[in-house]
Amino acid sequence: MVAFDPSSILLTDRVVVITGASRGIGRATALLTARFGARVAICDRVADGLDTIPAALVRTLDVRDAAARDAFVADTVAAFGRVDVLVNNAGGTFFSPFLELSERGEAALLAENFGHVTALVRSVVRHMPPGSAIVNITSIEAHQAAPGFAVYGAMKAALAHLTRTLALELAPLGIRVNAIAPDAIPTGGDHDVREEMLGAGAVYDPAVVPPLGHMGEPDDAAAAVVFLASDMARFMTGTTLHVDGGNWAAGGWRRITEVQYPGEPAD
Ligand SMILES: NC(=O)c1ccc[n+]([C@@H]2O[C@H](COP(=O)([O-])OP(=O)(O)OC[C@H]3O[C@@H](n4cnc5c(N)ncnc54)[C@H](O)[C@@H]3O)[C@@H](O)[C@H]2O)c1
Repeated sequence: MVAFDPSSILLTDRVVVITGASRGIGRATALLTARFGARVAICDRVADGLDTIPAALVRTLDVRDAAARDAFVADTVAAFGRVDVLVNNAGGTFFSPFLELSERGEAALLAENFGHVTALVRSVVRHMPPGSAIVNITSIEAHQAAPGFAVYGAMKAALAHLTRTLALELAPLGIRVNAIAPDAIPTGGDHDVREEMLGAGAVYDPAVVPPLGHMGEPDDAAAAVVFLASDMARFMTGTTLHVDGGNWAAGGWRRITEVQYPGEPAD
């Protein structure tokens, strides 16, 4: 007897809440979970793009706004009666060497990448039936040092730690908690940070790619979210999937012209 069949990956009729869905990984996750059958409730502080997602519930809000956040959860529960999957995706950073980071900037990074996650989990968990899942979007920078992103990385590390502890605390309720740690996935957010670091018009150096030999797509991260949210991952909790083309395994970025991997052309 095999435990799974192809339908085990489907999210049919599951209520999936996703923060930060206007663009990038959040948008791809909304589109893919909907494609896998979910009823999707999405929010973003930017309205642009939300209307092109086949979502069952859409709100324009900043997840740092407690009242708006609570109303989003309340509206979702009023519409669907429960939440099966919470994807904590909204987040972001800007480039700033630590000694140049103002207190205001630091507070923004804390709120943007951590504060709203604990608040959302607190309000959503009570509406989650057994079998539900939380997926937190962290970063490779939760796991390795990143000059210019000290507080962002620390907050993502906090989120990775929260993932493990919540996994244990929520296991008795039948709720799984996992994370994905993306890297090397070009998105609007990623582009903005790159321009801050390297100047306007900066482009990817085609010689600097992850070990797999190319950059990722938002759909690659979304696919990992679908898996973790599905019954296929029913025995997984408290862990992180690295979706980064091998960057984490490599200990960071590798210049393929300097480090040759089997199968690559020599020049
Ligand atoms: N792209 C990558 O390679 C990469 C790498 C590491 C981590 N991440 C993480 O993945 C997640 C998504 O990143 P992305 O690259 O898709 O970024 P993105 O900037 O393209 O998309 C983020 C979305 O979240 C929204 N958002 C941000 N803060 C919000 C807030 N306070 N309230 C409501 N909406 C908010 C933005 O408006 C945007 O639509 C983030 O948590 C990011 O830290 C991405």
